[in-house]
Amino acid sequence: MARPAPSPLLLLVVLAGALAGGGEAALLKAHFYRPSCPAAEAVVRDIVVARVAADPAALPARLLRLFFHDCFVRGCDASVLVDSMAGNTAEKDAGPNGSLGGLDVIDTAKAVLEAVCPGVVSCADIVALAARDAISFQFGRDLWDVQLGRRDGVVSSASEALSNIPSPSDNFTTLEAKFASKGLDVKDLVILSGAHTIGVGHCNLFGSRLFSSTTTGVAPATDPTLNAAYATQLRAACGSPSNNVTAVPMDPGSPARFDSHYYVNLKLGRGLFRSDAALLADSRAAGMIHALTKEGYFLQEFKNAVRKMGRVGVLTGGQGEIRRNCRAVNS
Ligand code: HEM
Ligand SMILES: *[C@@H]1O[C@H](CO)[C@@H](O)[C@H](O)[C@H]1NC(C)=O
Ligand SMILES: *[C@@H]1O[C@H](CO)[C@@H](O)[C@H](O)[C@H]1NC(C)=O
Ligand SMILES: *[C@@H]1O[C@H](CO)[C@@H](O)[C@H](O)[C@H]1NC(C)=O
Repeated sequence: MARPAPSPLLLLVVLAGALAGGGEAALLKAHFYRPSCPAAEAVVRDIVVARVAADPAALPARLLRLFFHDCFVRGCDASVLVDSMAGNTAEKDAGPNGSLGGLDVIDTAKAVLEAVCPGVVSCADIVALAARDAISFQFGRDLWDVQLGRRDGVVSSASEALSNIPSPSDNFTTLEAKFASKGLDVKDLVILSGAHTIGVGHCNLFGSRLFSSTTTGVAPATDPTLNAAYATQLRAACGSPSNNVTAVPMDPGSPARFDSHYYVNLKLGRGLFRSDAALLADSRAAGMIHALTKEGYFLQEFKNAVRKMGRVGVLTGGQGEIRRNCRAVNS
């Protein structure tokens, strides 16, 4: 069906938008693979849904965190998937990897897609789709739509992961700066942190909030921003501030449900990491938290923020490559 020609004014507005938003990100679009690999989105969804159905407690959290770590280092370019090789320590082997997971699901989807339409679907897009599909599983419908057309990067460096991925001990100023360096604002920081409504954290990453000594397990809580009763429970669960084996749910009331309890917990001093509690230390961030305890509002806002995260630093068009194997750049 023929469409009327766009008016010059509309073209101008679109062009201005593309320039303001960064040319690359503007090239992402819905159903990018419809002409080149029509099955792409369904293939990823079917694999993710089957795997999440078998592991609904842990896998959605892993896949969402994988997407976050990918986007925060060199943009959403699948650099997080690359394996270390002689002479290069890759992102995933940097300190903050803290038990990244779900990579085998991406591998499976990639293997099927390479059989169906070789060399067409990027690993970066598979990561973006897998996060959406995994989180959407509990809702029985897509929670957000994913724009596609990302290309895969050819660099993956552990030192870049260390400097770009926020640390659980970061204060608000540092968190704000790390998000700002990705074009994400304070509102995005507060809303994307709501992802900590699912999944787990290891004791050594918040141990310094529980024990006054970094080596012994007997001293009282040292972080006044942590709810005292919760601190007692966490101390019992962890035993020692350096325990890197035990992981506790970040939202103990509903650890596997993508709901708005993260914000309810925060208000009660039950945010697990210093970086969670830090959101209360800034008046702009703290002022957003009460409204976000309402689930409908949180889910609506998360949609917008996660789409924005998915556009960070993307490669499109002729940039980068379509990796054949997500764990290695093409030779
Ligand atoms: C604001 C800065 C952030 C910091 C400092 C941070 C830090 C952390 C840490 C330390 C863990 C626990 C890792 C472990 O013990 O294994 C974790 C888990 C997690 N993070 Fe974040 N995170 C941040 C933002 C985000 C964002 C933006 C998302 C996604 C949109 C996200 C999603 C997750 C998920 C889902 C888990 C649970 C992973 C699992 O259970 O396997 N985080 N985060
Ligand atoms: C995480 O990084 C450590 C080194 O800090 C490495 O020994 C470990 O294998 C990495 N874990 C994953 C899942 O890549
Ligand atoms: C936040 O942390 C940074 C880096 O550790 C530090 O330089 C800064 O002084 C801290 N800011 C505040 C307000 O505590
Ligand atoms: C946990 O800590 C021990 C002792 O410091 C260390 O040997 C081990 O590699 C760590 N394990 C992980 C998974 O980081």
